[in-house]
Amino acid sequence: MQKLMVTGGAGFIGSNFVRHVLRTYPDVHVLVYDKMTYAGNLDNLKDVAEDYAERYSFERGDIADAARVDEVMQQCRIDTIVNFAAETHVDRSLMGADSFIRTDVFGTYVLLEAAKTYDIERYHQVSTDEVYGQVLEGASLETDPLHTRSPYSASKAGGDLMCIAYHESFGLPVTITRGSNNIGPYQYPEKVVPLFVTNAIDDLPLPLYGDGRQMRDYQYVLDHCEGIDVVLHKGQPGEIYNVGTEVETENIVMTHAILDLLGKPYSLIQPVTDRPGHDRRYSIHCAKLRALGWRSRHTFEQAIEKTVRWYVENEWWWRKIKNGEYIEYYRKQYAGRGI
Ligand code: NAD
Ligand code: DAU
Repeated sequence: MQKLMVTGGAGFIGSNFVRHVLRTYPDVHVLVYDKMTYAGNLDNLKDVAEDYAERYSFERGDIADAARVDEVMQQCRIDTIVNFAAETHVDRSLMGADSFIRTDVFGTYVLLEAAKTYDIERYHQVSTDEVYGQVLEGASLETDPLHTRSPYSASKAGGDLMCIAYHESFGLPVTITRGSNNIGPYQYPEKVVPLFVTNAIDDLPLPLYGDGRQMRDYQYVLDHCEGIDVVLHKGQPGEIYNVGTEVETENIVMTHAILDLLGKPYSLIQPVTDRPGHDRRYSIHCAKLRALGWRSRHTFEQAIEKTVRWYVENEWWWRKIKNGEYIEYYRKQYAGRGI
């Protein structure tokens, strides 16, 4: 891995991954290729562009645009792709799935074709535990069948299946990670944790869906990035690896933790109509990744504490976002739900 293309690198996890790679591997050059949708933000990479100017570059482009992908692959002599580029928010996929199918399925296919054409060393697909569907008991293994329930998770599953097909049919050196819910710096405040933290700072209501007893495995974003790094270096082509803490937390418990850390009252919690088709619980086994030497380094308590502190200390980052497109989305999403 010398010339790494990180697609979707201007988003939340992608930008954290880029920072991690440049810090860890002094010989690696990173090219971020990103369409800059509402979720793409060059502020996420501001320090990276300053600190690693010689080994970092940025190209704006769509992963579903085959000609543009080809041009960049050829010009930059890319040998490794890590694909974070996706439409990622379940609630938005319920409003309309077009862009999800175009990016998460068709865009993945375009990247796989480019990976095949240029015979690259590794194509890594960043996927999600949501492809297993809700798991009411026990935990999902990488070999489990996929039971997607939202347009988002169905699109991600489509991307995963295409990756496996390119490995089986063409011998492409593909790996896949399926991560649980990430939290940490630079997460767009439509996702529950940054939404609740930034609303609470401003004494605004926290719209908690349904009974708030749904469970998620909230992991610190850097732990997820380190998991992807380990798979890139030690993972077997054709294999899938789950990445999470293996500890699930109820949303109401996560919400109380945020309010406690900020010293804000529980009366800010506003129960609202549930998300249609809301997956009650996700849970994954991560022994396969641990066998490669990876460990999750943050407990839920440590992860939420670090995350809350970052949003408190970085209002410059999120206050700019909370206008324009964001306000419009927020109104559409929460209007009529008592918010
Ligand atoms: P994000 O929404 O913060 O960022 C997505 C990035 O992809 C943005 O920079 C956006 O501009 C870019 N993008 C979107 N469409 C594109 C296209 N057609 N071409 C090029 N770039 C495009 O996402 P995130 O939360 O950082 O998630 C990154 C990846 O990790 C996704 O594939 C997601 O499915 C997966 N994932 C996310 C989580 C999570 O908790 N956020 C957990 C597991 C897996
Ligand atoms: O599990 C991994 C997935 O985690 C990723 O693949 C997705 O890209 C990412 O968005 C995330 O999906 P979720 O749907 O779990 O994340 P979200 O932050 O939207 O919601 C987390 C939980 O909080 C979920 O149970 C719904 C609930 N929620 C969410 C919002 C936005 C609320 O109660 N109120 C809200 O306003």
